[in-house]
Amino acid sequence: MDMEGLETIDVMQKLAIPLPVVVISDLLGVPSKDRAMIKTWSDIIFLPFAKETYDDINAQKAQVMKEFYEYLYPIVLEKRKNPADDIISDLTKAELEGEQLTDEEVVMSSIGLLGAGNETTTTFISNAFYSMLFDQPGIYQELRADLSLVPKLLEEVLRFRFPSVMDRRITQDTAVFGHEMKQGQMIMAWVGAADRDEAQFAHGDEFDAHRPNNQQHLAFGSGPHFCLGAPLARMEARIALSSFVKRFADIGAVEGFEVTDHLTDSALGQSLKSLPIRLA
Ligand code: HEM
Repeated sequence: MDMEGLETIDVMQKLAIPLPVVVISDLLGVPSKDRAMIKTWSDIIFLPFAKETYDDINAQKAQVMKEFYEYLYPIVLEKRKNPADDIISDLTKAELEGEQLTDEEVVMSSIGLLGAGNETTTTFISNAFYSMLFDQPGIYQELRADLSLVPKLLEEVLRFRFPSVMDRRITQDTAVFGHEMKQGQMIMAWVGAADRDEAQFAHGDEFDAHRPNNQQHLAFGSGPHFCLGAPLARMEARIALSSFVKRFADIGAVEGFEVTDHLTDSALGQSLKSLPIRLA
């Protein structure tokens, strides 16, 4: 991720895209030469659906799942025979009440982990740069003066720029705020809206890295399905941003930057596909 001597970089290509895939591939123990392929597969698995392209996207996802599965299966067999110090090996050894995961279950869990940490963490890191440039201009110099502000800035990015949406199937008839919900129905909860709730966050529509309670957001969910990778995502973003801030005296927006030219139609709703910035 060499940025030395460059005046302008695309933060996505230089940092936000490569870092999460390098980290998660190494943790799982898959060969580093395959990272680009893993990134391509994960992106397709997480492609958002649209009515017009539903069949095409579904077919792409099915094809990629098949390729991903066939790629990982021999790796899992090999690691079960000769375990190494990595997560796939740990999954092959894991035991609960005398039962182990089957090879198929280890493959599916590994696909889940390789995919889950990619796009989300990329969005997290790129949104942090966007926020430093446009949501709270001037904060970069504060970070340079006091690196302990980095984790607080990152929590505010998660609160302010992570509009999580979660789907759930209703297991029994109920009513929430007067809205009836029937068993078997699907609901989409716009959890991100809670992160702007004025009762919880004063001036919730304003970005403020100094906000005292900004870590009380729901970007990683809540309850039994709370994000397994939250500590990893936080650590990756903290190390990436602290190292960057220490190395570069300042950052700036490139002339004529229009955010609408740089957005994906990601399921997350607010994802950048590129973010050019000036380095000083
Ligand atoms: C900023 C980055 C991330 C965000 C915003 C995020 C967000 C979330 C959210 C909202 C959930 C809960 C989904 C629900 O309740 O339906 C979740 C679950 C999960 N996340 Fe993350 N995630 C991030 C990074 C990661 C990483 C790096 C990994 C893997 C290493 C990961 C693995 C998982 C897994 C396995 C679950 C399912 C947990 C369960 O169902 O018990 N996530 N994540």
